[in-house]
Formats: sequence, structure tokens, C-alpha cells
Amino acid sequence: MKIEEIGYLCIDANKMDEWRTFASDYVGFELRALSQGCLGLRMDDYEWRMKLRPSDRTGVGFMGMKVETVEALATVRAEMGAAGFQVNESTAQERADRRVAHMVWVYDPDGNRIEFFVNRAVDEVAFNPGRPIGGFRTGNLGFGHIVLGTPRLEEMEKFYMKLLGFGLSDYMTGNIEVRFIHANERHHSLALVKTPARFLHHVMVEYKHMDDVGRLYDKALLVPGMIQTSLGRHSNDHVLSFYSKTPGGFLLETGWGGRSVDPATWKSYEMDCMSYWGHERSWETPENQLKQREQREAAGAKGLRAPVEVNGEGGFVSRDAAI
Ligand SMILES: [Fe+2]
Repeated sequence: MKIEEIGYLCIDANKMDEWRTFASDYVGFELRALSQGCLGLRMDDYEWRMKLRPSDRTGVGFMGMKVETVEALATVRAEMGAAGFQVNESTAQERADRRVAHMVWVYDPDGNRIEFFVNRAVDEVAFNPGRPIGGFRTGNLGFGHIVLGTPRLEEMEKFYMKLLGFGLSDYMTGNIEVRFIHANERHHSLALVKTPARFLHHVMVEYKHMDDVGRLYDKALLVPGMIQTSLGRHSNDHVLSFYSKTPGGFLLETGWGGRSVDPATWKSYEMDCMSYWGHERSWETPENQLKQREQREAAGAKGLRAPVEVNGEGGFVSRDAAI
């Protein structure tokens, strides 16, 4: 089956008042009050790309995978059923809530509710950010990316790669086992990390403008404990980013400048470092912190660096185009 993008994400959350301030005043999402006390986080012209659902737990509520056509949805039904997954039909209320024409859902091997939808309608009202940011890079790349810790890495790999058709971008083995996987040109829409228990590690959203990352960093520096991973550049997706602590305890990566992959020709490889520089992780074990520092030093000793990709957004104008 073919997934086009991860179109939306619902997160079960508490501390809704803290979330309001964090999401709007800090990150710059537009807030949209939704039914049943839910809070929609707008990133573009959809009513919401992310939604916070009041709960006494923190974690994935559901994830929405876009498929292109009703025929493609029929393929999802058939292949999921053949693989032994129970395929559940959506209710009219659920479809109205997501503003989708069609939707079915299953549980992945970790018990995350995964929805497959066709035809999501945009909102009548244009996106208006919570503070003056230049917007988020979404479109057909999806909302951003999500990183899940899982005790069932092999089953989850099989589910997302073999069944759903995500491609492997790159991976790490050894003391940290990670698989970065793509559904479209975004280097990874999902990453799976082997951990003792299932949990939501982080969510990434990408600003269109680099200055919005820098300006948020200024804000973060004023809040003790906010920065959980310092400013740095990932060696795989080339994103310039840092990670903040959300009111839900998991991390929000805010980045800029992610590179595109061509899913048709991309060859996966084993990474030897997470980041070219920066990304000091205050939450890691001392052992892993040391290992990652050594990896960055080795990358520096080899002079590893990467160009910034011109993607036609984010205020980036190539000199050739400007002449
Ligand atoms: Fe990330």
C-alpha cells in the first residue's frame, strides 16, 4: 500500500492551560478550540494538523495516514486484513472531526491507533499563526515527524515498512537502535527507537524560516529547563533544530532546512553520528552523552558538512534564481 503523508496527529495530553501558552505564544501554532475540550494546533490551512485531547495519559491518541484514492483505501483494507489486523470502520462523527471523506483505522503492533483517510478538506479560514512566524513547512510532506520508542522494533518495522510501504532512509545500530523512515520527500516522517517501553519521544515541526528557529531559541534560553537538546544540525535530514520540553513531558523539535529524498532512488545507510554539531542531549545517560560527543568530534575531524538545500520556501532565494 502507498501512504502519501502523515497528515495529522492527535496527542493525549493534560495540563491544557500550559499547553495553550506553549503552543501559541511559544511555538506559534494557531489555536482552535474543538469539541470535547480538545485543542487544535493549526500549522496551515487545515483546521488542525495536531490536536491535543484531554487525558490522564500522555502519548499518541491517533495518527492519520493520507492515502490518495478510495481504491487505495480498499487496498489498505484488503492488505491489513490479510496481514491479520482488524480493520475498523470510522463513524460519521470521527470523519466530521477530521474533515475527511473516508477513513478506516487499525492498531499498530504497539497499540497506537493508525487511521487511513482519503480527501481531507481544508478550513474556510486561512492560517493565522499565534505569533508572527513565517509559517510551517507542511504541504504534501505532512505535518512534520514523530519519533516513537518501541519495545517491538521488529514488528513495528514490519508494520510500517512492509505493510504501509514506508522506505528506510537510514538507521543506527549498537547501543541505540533507530530506524528513520519516509513516506514522501521528507527525509523521515517517522522514526522508531528500540526502548524498554512504548512511549512518544518527540514530535518535529519545521519552520519555513531559519530566523523563526533562532527567535524561538532566544525565547527558550529565558526558560530554565526548556532546552532539552541544544541547537545543532542532524547528519541525516540536515535539519537545523533544537528540542524543547513540552507540557506533556515529551520533546518538541523545532527545525528548519530539512533536505528532500527521492523515494524512488534513495539508498539507506547506517549512520555513524546523529548530528554534525550541537544537539547536546541533557536527558541522555552520561554514557550516551559521551558517545555522542565522541561521534560529533569524529565527524568534525573528518570535516563532514552538508550544503543547505534550496527548497523554494523559507525565504531562501538561490543566487542563480535571483540573477
Ligand atoms: Fe527529530
